[in-house]
Amino acid sequence: MAENEAPVSLWDEMQSPVNVTLLVIIAYLLYKIIKSHMEPEDDTPLPPSPPPLLRLRKDMTVAELNQYDGTKGEGRVLLAVNGIIFDVTKGKRFYGPGGPYAAFAGKDATRGLATGQVAASDKEYDDVSDLTPEEVASAKEWEEQFKEKYDIVGKLLKPGETPTEYDDAGDTEDESETKKEL
Ligand code: HEM
Repeated sequence: MAENEAPVSLWDEMQSPVNVTLLVIIAYLLYKIIKSHMEPEDDTPLPPSPPPLLRLRKDMTVAELNQYDGTKGEGRVLLAVNGIIFDVTKGKRFYGPGGPYAAFAGKDATRGLATGQVAASDKEYDDVSDLTPEEVASAKEWEEQFKEKYDIVGKLLKPGETPTEYDDAGDTEDESETKKEL
């Protein structure tokens, strides 16, 4: 600094037009941030979510199961693995119309899950006795995963097989009876 120049104070520095502009911008941004935190949450009501469906307990033929692909009536989605029908409605983002696994909706998914193909059999009844031990093991793993996550609806009936009458058909959470039988 030259001897005859007045010392430049911090205050002088801060008054430069660029700094003043920056300070104004910072103050404005701080004001916006603080204001956004103080404002009450947006209380626009969310669209009501559909009421949960009643528990369904029923053995079904493949033809009956096919009705539950999520496109009909109350939009329930079922699928079967290893002869067990699961209610996968709460996984609708996977199985619902347009979902990545919609091919399994309303279907016997055993063969597809066992072989790693997102496709289901259109047979009246898919006898999966030709699966390899690895494929059987894979289907079993899926079955266990589904048991953890989804309600059991009932058995997938082979042609000519008679359905079980469930006492708790309709609305209870008790799965013990089906688990005993399956
Ligand atoms: C590139 C291959 C694949 C990728 C990256 C992939 C990825 C995923 C992801 C991220 C999820 C969601 C998991 C969650 O949020 O809980 C999922 C779920 C699922 N995947 Fe895949 N997947 C693939 C292939 C397959 C194949 C080949 C099958 C069957 C043949 C399959 C069957 C399923 C099923 C059934 C679910 C839903 C499980 C449930 O209901 O919780 N995926 N997959």
